[in-house]
Amino acid sequence: MKKLAIFASGNGSNFEALAAACTEGRIDAEVALCVCDKAGAYVIERATKYGVEVLVFNPKEYGSKAEYERLVADRMDTLGIDLVCLAGYMRIVGDELLGRYGGKIVNIHPSLLPAFVGAHAIQDAFDYGVKVFGVTIHYVDQTLDGGKIISQVAVPYEGGDIEELEAMIHKAEHRLYVDTVNKLIE
Ligand code: GRF
Repeated sequence: MKKLAIFASGNGSNFEALAAACTEGRIDAEVALCVCDKAGAYVIERATKYGVEVLVFNPKEYGSKAEYERLVADRMDTLGIDLVCLAGYMRIVGDELLGRYGGKIVNIHPSLLPAFVGAHAIQDAFDYGVKVFGVTIHYVDQTLDGGKIISQVAVPYEGGDIEELEAMIHKAEHRLYVDTVNKLIE
């Protein structure tokens, strides 16, 4: 069975969507590792609930990005990780991870890339006044939200309630991530 590692920094609703799909057999894979760069992030509780090993690190305790990425990549090598899913991981992936897992790392972003890169994509698109929002899953490279696109889904919305919009986008994310991971591990 294929093994996934999921990297997250916060809430972890995408983590949970993937973990639930694996547990329920909707994805033929196992979530073998949750990587988190923030002690206390809610994703840690979710991972514990699913019995998934959690690797938590504090980047400030390391001399460089390469140092903590080496630790993470070593653990992934030991577990035999096949695919790395970034899901709200708020860091640029560096050379150490890209060198060892390049081509096997994907990210989910809450906009129709290349529009609205960065950490506030939903707010930025909403402020801009767009009428078709969306979600993108792409391969990860050295650029911010810039790697080759794998899949996208549009979320049309013309209302004025950003919380309602966010809920719609997150729902679309969860569906698209499950479908896309299924295709990638085939
Ligand atoms: C999602 O909107 C994802 O697209 C973005 O960060 C958010 C993470 O949400 N990269 P969650 O932690 O999975 O709930």
